[in-house]
Amino acid sequence: MAPLSLKSSLFLLAGTCLYLVPSVRSVTSYANVFYNPDVLAAGDFNQSTLNAQSTIIQWAGILASQGPWTVTSKEMAPPSGDKHDYMSFSPYAWPDCSKAGNTTELTPEQIWTTCEYVTRDGQFNPDARMVNDIGNFDDMADAVFYNSLAWIIGGDLEYSTNAVNFIQSWFLSPDTGMNPNLNYAQMKRGPGGRNGTHTGVLDLKCLTKVVNGVLILRDKKAPAWTADLDGKMIAWAKEYITWLQTASIAQEEEASTNNHGSFYFNQLGALQLLIGDKDAVQKAVQVYFSGIYAGQISANGDQPFESARTRPYHYRAYNLAAMITNARIGEYAGINVWNTTTSSGTTIQSALDFAIAQQPGNDDPSELYPHVAAVAMQYGDPQGKYGTFLRSKLNVDLTKAPFYLWDSLSVEGIATPTSNDISTPTSSHAGRVKPTAKSEGSSTGKEDSSALSDFAVSKLLYGAIVTVSAVSRYFISDLNLTFPWSFSILTATMFADELKTFRRLGLRYVLLQILNFASVLASGLMMWKGLGLFTNTESPIVVVLSGSMEPAFYRGDLLFLTNPLNERYVTGDITVYKVPGADIPIVHRVLETHDVPPKQKRGSPGVEATVIDEGRQ
Ligand SMILES: *[C@@H]1O[C@H](CO)[C@@H](O)[C@H](O)[C@H]1NC(C)=O
Ligand SMILES: *[C@@H]1O[C@H](CO)[C@@H](O)[C@H](O)[C@H]1NC(C)=O
Ligand SMILES: *[C@@H]1O[C@H](CO)[C@@H](O)[C@H](O)[C@H]1NC(C)=O
Ligand SMILES: *[C@@H]1O[C@H](CO)[C@@H](O)[C@H](O)[C@H]1NC(C)=O
Ligand SMILES: *[C@@H]1O[C@H](CO)[C@@H](O)[C@H](O)[C@H]1NC(C)=O
Repeated sequence: MAPLSLKSSLFLLAGTCLYLVPSVRSVTSYANVFYNPDVLAAGDFNQSTLNAQSTIIQWAGILASQGPWTVTSKEMAPPSGDKHDYMSFSPYAWPDCSKAGNTTELTPEQIWTTCEYVTRDGQFNPDARMVNDIGNFDDMADAVFYNSLAWIIGGDLEYSTNAVNFIQSWFLSPDTGMNPNLNYAQMKRGPGGRNGTHTGVLDLKCLTKVVNGVLILRDKKAPAWTADLDGKMIAWAKEYITWLQTASIAQEEEASTNNHGSFYFNQLGALQLLIGDKDAVQKAVQVYFSGIYAGQISANGDQPFESARTRPYHYRAYNLAAMITNARIGEYAGINVWNTTTSSGTTIQSALDFAIAQQPGNDDPSELYPHVAAVAMQYGDPQGKYGTFLRSKLNVDLTKAPFYLWDSLSVEGIATPTSNDISTPTSSHAGRVKPTAKSEGSSTGKEDSSALSDFAVSKLLYGAIVTVSAVSRYFISDLNLTFPWSFSILTATMFADELKTFRRLGLRYVLLQILNFASVLASGLMMWKGLGLFTNTESPIVVVLSGSMEPAFYRGDLLFLTNPLNERYVTGDITVYKVPGADIPIVHRVLETHDVPPKQKRGSPGVEATVIDEGRQ
């Protein structure tokens, strides 16, 4: 009996798995964040933020398991020949070989150097990912920020040590440290394409998160953040500020009227905070708010430079992140710009109000959530408009999002989801937040690389199911099959990436996944046994192994069996029964019945049935 029910259980399991396997947790990279480091370092958080705190600790751990990151890890050197120089390729640049004059197909290397590269806004060229300084930098910045916070929240010194190590490896170590310039950021390939472009300055916008982390470590006097390191970081920041203020591409970026210009001031202001020059911060923030900001929000609250782009919803949210960050940096340096109006008389709040009234299209609506909370926090929410928006849009529990730690007061009530919310997050989904639009921005298409994607999980599941069924077929079949080794090797190569991810995420994570899987197996078996009880049979589903019942059943058909207690077998019924001594049951049709005593019940011994279809099943 056992071999049959094994295979059938697999089918059942397959179904069960698809329903029960929890989505793998992923880390959301906000477009940018700055929040008063003194408040964060004080760690005096409201009890209502406990969920957010636990997410921050989880994310800090997930990120830390992937570090450290360095610019020197890339395989390709920039044109300077020095891997300490940061390098990236323009994400939206595509080759146009129409004027290359070639008569045959070109190799990728030839394309990179001979074809003109043209910009197709919003269309990400995967070639750009051949060097991933940008993705590594973003991960490092998130890791520094969340590990600094996790140290404050959980008190575990290890988190602060993580943050310090990541800063050292990226910026300060003589072996791996980044040179303080972006001369090779967002290079456009093509003839003469050996210099960075101004849009590449955006690549380092999340320096703001690093600075936020450093200020927390410094404020709270993390033992690992020594005076020596602080001095070196200040020296690095000063050199980089000089580059930001003098390099021609940096100057071009500063003059950009859209989000590029806004994010330029995020970096500049944050670094000036880091070196302790509050006057310079005030000046920079004022230059922004009296400069390009004035043209960024029209009278109706739209952001014309962003809505002109290919993904208006995304870019509006993106620039909102930059505007809010500039305002928060300014506030920390002592100037309040929240009420500063543009030349159309509008404010950041007007821009948000417009943005939330638009349809997201293909963009991820959750990009706006942190900004809604920030605006509600700064401007208040007397009509409950922002709270209502968040409650109606969220399919995850907002209180679990990290931003709830610093922007929670204004969105009270979110902790008690209304019936509109789809979410009743189960423990297995705890802390999962949909990844935001992955900061494709005008900068990058950073993939959410911190955990297995849902796709990878489905692939793994599919692989597991197919493998198990191939192997089990070998064991239960009476045909002479060879053991499917080739299949196993194929599976192993197919999942090389996922295996790598598992390795990177560490033992704990793998154990968690194994536990999850074990609980799925257990549920499957429970359902199998439950079905058996319900149908009053040992194995409610069997598979036909021989062809003796053709054309009624063919090999491989699945039979669903029931054995109702109070019904008698009648001629024409198809039965499955076991012959004492034989290990495999037999399926046959009842042709004739005789001598069935009235009290005999279906399935009881003593039922005699004459059967036609001979053959062992
Ligand atoms: C020139 O090279 C490009 C890129 O490989 C290719 O698409 C194009 O067809 C080539 N032109 C000719 C005439 O072969
Ligand atoms: C690249 O930049 C350097 C220094 O800024 C400049 O001298 C050089 O002309 C640039 N090259 C190109 C192709 O633009
Ligand atoms: C904006 O101005 C109003 C009216 O002067 C004031 O009540 C409010 O507190 C200001 N908001 C911020 C965020 O400073
Ligand atoms: C903590 O949060 C709750 C609910 O959001 C709020 O009612 C309360 O005033 C907060 N307490 C403090 C000290 O901020
Ligand atoms: C299966 O293997 C046995 C013994 O090795 C052999 O006699 C038989 O012919 C094989 N059957 C088939 C279908 O290959």
